[in-house]
Amino acid sequence: MSDSIAPAAPRATGAEPLPAALRDAGERMSREELRAHQLTRLQETLRTAYENVAMYRAKFDAAGVRAEDCRTLEDLARFPFTTKADLRESYPFGTFAVPMDQVRRVHASSGTTGRPTVVGYTENDLSMWADVVARSIRAAGGRPGHKVHISYGYGLFTGGLGAHYGAERAGCTVIPVSGGMTARQVQIIQDFEPDIIMVTPSYMLTLLDEFERQGVDPRGTSLKIGIFGAEPWTEEMRREMEERLGIHAVDIYGLSEVIGPGVAQECVETKDGLHVWEDHFFPEVVDPLTDEVPPEGEEGELVFTSLTKEAMPVVRYRTRDLTRLLPGTARPAFRRIQKITGRCDDMIILRGVNIFPSQVEEIVLRTPGLAPHFQLHLSRRGRMDHMAVRVEARTGTGVPEREAAAASVAKEIKDGIGLSVDVEIVDPETLERSVGKIRRIVDDRQKE
Ligand code: DLL
Repeated sequence: MSDSIAPAAPRATGAEPLPAALRDAGERMSREELRAHQLTRLQETLRTAYENVAMYRAKFDAAGVRAEDCRTLEDLARFPFTTKADLRESYPFGTFAVPMDQVRRVHASSGTTGRPTVVGYTENDLSMWADVVARSIRAAGGRPGHKVHISYGYGLFTGGLGAHYGAERAGCTVIPVSGGMTARQVQIIQDFEPDIIMVTPSYMLTLLDEFERQGVDPRGTSLKIGIFGAEPWTEEMRREMEERLGIHAVDIYGLSEVIGPGVAQECVETKDGLHVWEDHFFPEVVDPLTDEVPPEGEEGELVFTSLTKEAMPVVRYRTRDLTRLLPGTARPAFRRIQKITGRCDDMIILRGVNIFPSQVEEIVLRTPGLAPHFQLHLSRRGRMDHMAVRVEARTGTGVPEREAAAASVAKEIKDGIGLSVDVEIVDPETLERSVGKIRRIVDDRQKE
């Protein structure tokens, strides 16, 4: 957790940096001021978590630590981790640190298995959340007066409402569309002329196909900025979106347990990873196998401790997301996370080799003739695990080009990752489309 990493050279993208007058109080802090603020808030969070949440009290007691033991930011490493399973055990409201009459809203993360995780917000929490999303929208290039089309789902998912109140706080005009009704979304974009779209990258691809189906040139719309998140996406996907839409594509990160969208945001002027809004969320990266904190800059699992949350403070929450911590660039006081490679849960271990869907995405997107729609299908052949990559051809790709594309993807996966896989090129519009977060892996290994 040392602060010794050398500053990095920011990447120039030609986009305007945020004028100083539009920076909020948190963004004006120096690194030293920020660290002092973090320590005070951290001590407060540990104290209230211990006093008001039985789960934290039991964990701190078992580990033999007390809030007073945190005298420096480095001392946080002595405190126990919190996992999704810990939160689920207190379902639905057992991890709230305030009486229920102070909780103004709840959200829930669906999760792929079992009970959802429920999260709660006080009035101050909702206001802080709107502030960090507003800050994220400004970092993405959004300005007061911009129109923001929101296609993240509204409801228990934090994407829609989180983006919504943040965009209002940023002084933008919100177009609250939510996910689904794809044909209508395309019409609304043409008629209402938004400057910004906030959507999952996979649903953006679905929208792009719909533009083309309706014979509308996606480069001809009013859109200037796409704020994409809620699932991993690669630099290759950024290039694809920027070219097909003629926009700046930037990354927004967050998770329900920590607040929702707006935990970290990429700045449009550098597009070099996401600045973590560290005045509210304290990041660490730990080795997912040993639980140790490796030297800063190494890849590991991202862990967050909330610094200002009231209804549901989190202490060393294990996100399962894999990334590395880097020094700040466009916002020098805030450290960055590298674009998320994937989740520990999404790592496929096939015949002893680790592979992430994002690695396949990179390869598919740079192969001529292929559309950005793919799925990884896992099955068993005898006693061996097997993976087939199913990819859609772009419209108009003939048989010889398809065969060449399949051979090229298989070779790149073999040479780059060390795995032999089957590659099946399927017709356009045959794979499942996303209206929110995409499911990349179809695992039939238990079936056979
Ligand atoms: O997905 C919050 C969100 C909404 C973020 C809209 C950005 C935009 P959850 O449903 O709790 O919350 O899922 C959180 O999604 O742990 C990551 O695995 C993944 N995730 C979120 N943003 C990104 C991103 C919302 N930019 C989980 N890149 C997280 C990669 C992301 N993965």
